[in-house]
Amino acid sequence: MGWISLAFGVLSWICLLVSVGGIGANWGTQASHPLSPTTVVQMLKENGFQKVKLFDAEEGTMSALRKSGLEVMVGIPNDMLAMLATSMKAANNWVSNNVSAYINDGVNIRYVAVGNEPFLQTYNGSFLQTTFPALQNIQGALIKAGLSNQVKVTTPQNADVYASPSGRPSDGDFRSDIRDLMLAIVKFLNDNAAPFTVNIYPFISLYSDPNFPVDYAFFEGSSSAVVDGSVTYSNMFDANLDTLVWAMKKNGFPNLPIIVGEIGWPTDGDMNANVQYAQKFNQGFMNHISSGQGTPMRAGPIDAYLFSLIDEDQKSIQPGNFERHWGIYTYDGWPKYQLNLGTTKTGTLLRAKNIQYLDKKWCVLKPSVNLDNSKVAPSISYACANADCTSLGYKTSCGDLDARGNISYAFNSFYQKNDQDDVACGFENLATTTNKDPSTGTCRFGVMIIADSGIRYQGAGLILSVLLSLFLTLF
Ligand SMILES: *[C@@H]1O[C@H](CO)[C@@H](O)[C@H](O)[C@H]1NC(C)=O
Ligand SMILES: *[C@@H]1O[C@H](CO)[C@@H](O)[C@H](O)[C@H]1NC(C)=O
Ligand SMILES: *[C@@H]1O[C@H](CO)[C@@H](O)[C@H](O)[C@H]1NC(C)=O
Repeated sequence: MGWISLAFGVLSWICLLVSVGGIGANWGTQASHPLSPTTVVQMLKENGFQKVKLFDAEEGTMSALRKSGLEVMVGIPNDMLAMLATSMKAANNWVSNNVSAYINDGVNIRYVAVGNEPFLQTYNGSFLQTTFPALQNIQGALIKAGLSNQVKVTTPQNADVYASPSGRPSDGDFRSDIRDLMLAIVKFLNDNAAPFTVNIYPFISLYSDPNFPVDYAFFEGSSSAVVDGSVTYSNMFDANLDTLVWAMKKNGFPNLPIIVGEIGWPTDGDMNANVQYAQKFNQGFMNHISSGQGTPMRAGPIDAYLFSLIDEDQKSIQPGNFERHWGIYTYDGWPKYQLNLGTTKTGTLLRAKNIQYLDKKWCVLKPSVNLDNSKVAPSISYACANADCTSLGYKTSCGDLDARGNISYAFNSFYQKNDQDDVACGFENLATTTNKDPSTGTCRFGVMIIADSGIRYQGAGLILSVLLSLFLTLF
């Protein structure tokens, strides 16, 4: 290789590093049958993710991250905030067990996320008193452990902690009911050279506001651009992030680093949650951040974690049926769509390796059952309440099924979730198993994977027997 091409090679490599700045993924584990942590770490590495964000510090997850080289943000769940806020000893223990020990073991922990969107309006203020003291105590514990330069605290907030009354980013400020608290937190982060973490969701804007201009959610220009002085915003992401930048700048913190803790688009469970939109949003976002230009108010690389890596079938659907479908991967480690992260030679997502499935068997409604059988309705309710029917509904992946298809879908979901236990395909004799895949078009009748740990497997069996006895008493 000549000097010029060598120099060019090195230069373009440096440019790539600077402009990409690394992409991260959120790894949640609220799944009935999670992929094994080793498999997930392998997926993250093969696909060129440099960073991973967790919602807790589970032993199995943390062990799999040893010597992986991945930068890790460990999380503290909201239900631990009260204890950590009131007890310095608890904070020291948390850091000692969940940070120091793993760092000594080769886990590259860089951040501790204290709470997860604790000021969300739906929490009715439950964590308003505890989040900041917990943040301070964890920071104190990191200092005591000699780790405060290496590991930074942060507290991921939903973008609803700030707003702009006019819709223009330059009118942005923190939400009035929590403004003083937010300013105290921002000052604390700034004093400790720690970043502000925000989760930004154009999908939720579209979901909750029927008048939201669809094209403004994406990155391909918009007929509803927002003009703010000399700046024109043609995508909601930039405008939203800059609203935060303005809110901080106005209050004296123009340079506080920002991490986009969650960004993504779900693929099912709502008319706007589909593979086409998710692909368009995530690819648009990746192209945007790969350009390295940043937003009008914050030039430079954007530090972000995609939400999320894998679907989680046990997430609460209180926010909406889409909540279990945020993954760029299905529950069994298949990429749902083409996504070029700019991190691999092939420019495609690679599927998870060594996935083991249960038998190719499904549970369906018996063809002989009459639909007006009075046992049908309670059986569907029961199956859907205990498994996952979020792919059934208007304009969802299984929205085109007929009534019999709907019932079979519900039965199969319950059967698979219970590891194809024969008892879970009873439904008072309405159901039967089949070797013929009932999937049609976009509607996938899944076959469950073999659950990761023996403990979880036994746990599932126990839950099943409890549920079945409940079922028998009810009907
Ligand atoms: C460490 O994290 C785990 C998982 O989030 C949690 O269950 C445990 O209580 C934590 N340890 C301490 C000492 O707080
Ligand atoms: C918040 O308040 C509403 C209405 O009072 C209630 O339905 C909901 O369960 C509360 N949520 C939490 C997390 O406390
Ligand atoms: C199938 O179930 C969905 C979701 O419950 C419902 O909206 C739809 O109307 C059902 N279709 C038929 C044909 O029963």
